[in-house]
Amino acid sequence: MEPIRSVKGTHDILPDESPRWRYIESTVHRIAALYNFLEVRTPVFEETQVFARGVGEYTDIVTKEMYTFLDKGKTSLTLKPELTAPVVRSYIQHHYNQTYPVNKLYYLTPLFRQERPQAGRQRQFHQYGTEILGSEFPEADAETIAFAMQVYEQLGIRSPDSPDQIDLRINSIGDSACRPQYLETLREALAPHKADLCKTCQQRFDENTLRLFDCKNESCQLILEEHAPRITEHLCEDCATHFRSVLSQLDALDIPYTVDHTLVRGLDYYTRTTFEITSDLLGAQDALCGGGRYDLLVEQLGGPPTPAVGFAAGIERLLLALEALDAFPDFTDRLDLFIVTIGDEVRSRAFRILRDLRNRGVSCDTDLLRRSVKAQFREANRQNATYTMVLGENELQAREATIKEMESGEETAVPFEGLAGFFSQP
Ligand code: HAM
Repeated sequence: MEPIRSVKGTHDILPDESPRWRYIESTVHRIAALYNFLEVRTPVFEETQVFARGVGEYTDIVTKEMYTFLDKGKTSLTLKPELTAPVVRSYIQHHYNQTYPVNKLYYLTPLFRQERPQAGRQRQFHQYGTEILGSEFPEADAETIAFAMQVYEQLGIRSPDSPDQIDLRINSIGDSACRPQYLETLREALAPHKADLCKTCQQRFDENTLRLFDCKNESCQLILEEHAPRITEHLCEDCATHFRSVLSQLDALDIPYTVDHTLVRGLDYYTRTTFEITSDLLGAQDALCGGGRYDLLVEQLGGPPTPAVGFAAGIERLLLALEALDAFPDFTDRLDLFIVTIGDEVRSRAFRILRDLRNRGVSCDTDLLRRSVKAQFREANRQNATYTMVLGENELQAREATIKEMESGEETAVPFEGLAGFFSQP
């Protein structure tokens, strides 16, 4: 029988890879605590309408990429493809706003999108991200970007001597006051060239005009470059002031950025600020993270008017970047002690000693294959044990064991009562 394999676009995180994941995860948790973000965990699946209404019915995520199924009660459910909409659903459901006027939330979660798998793009992938709900002010945008940057900096991606490793692009796509008018102007300017646009763009022209800027097709890009008016020049006074202020906050934090008026992002909920951080350490899928402001989403999903801003970062891509930089520390875990047993009688005693030592925080193990003493020593070496201890009838009678430091070969006789103390010595 053919062995069963993991599903296309999904990966096992193997035992020798998981320390890297834990390293990234613990860095995110630590920096989130420094920024006073509180963690939220939402279910793996939601009612489909959370995403259809939240992310936007014309987006690639909703039209092509969701894992949607009917449960036995015929409710349409979807595996979460992103976390902003579920966080907003949770925010509304649990009235977070009644506890705090501003909620600074973060998450770290697996997500599911049925995309074409390639390097840095999986069908099950992982993101960490933040959402600040309740503040309309540019400080919240800057706080979001500062957090995103700090994680990369902490992990060694943006070192001061090689700032090119990372590139922050930022834009403002206006709000309901100025965007409709801009889109009208955009359509007018592009109408004479509509027939020259690719099929997808012709469809976007009517359905979701702003997404024209997402097209990778060179001839579409040329048309846009030549004829499309820049949104940043058509912002209303409030949006323009907000955008200027976000940029000056970034200046004050010494965070370098490039204003990119084509950065519109692929999700429909954005208003005003959009941003992405890319890295040339990655291949075609070069976005390490992306985000922006979504001042209308909470209301659209049935909550009170609540301005909000957030971002999310792909962990697989971060791993690729850190691997390219060789920026992971050495994770070789050392086992404190390996107990080598001689004879069948002592085994249960060995397990009692292991239990007592583990209770006191000593990492220790013994053989589970009833191997010869020689093979057990080989195993202790393979496990990178700092110490070994031989336990046989003689040791049981003397209530004392000889502990050998593997590197130096130095041996110390230690009475059983003194074992825990031996390992807790400074
Ligand atoms: P997004 O741009 O769809 O935004 O995803 C953010 C990041 O997740 C991407 O920049 C990338 O690093 C990673 N990512 C996305 N899709 C995949 C995939 N198939 N495989 C591997 N990595 C992937 C959002 O998800 C928004 N919810 C961000 C946000 C939060 N906006 C406001 N708040």
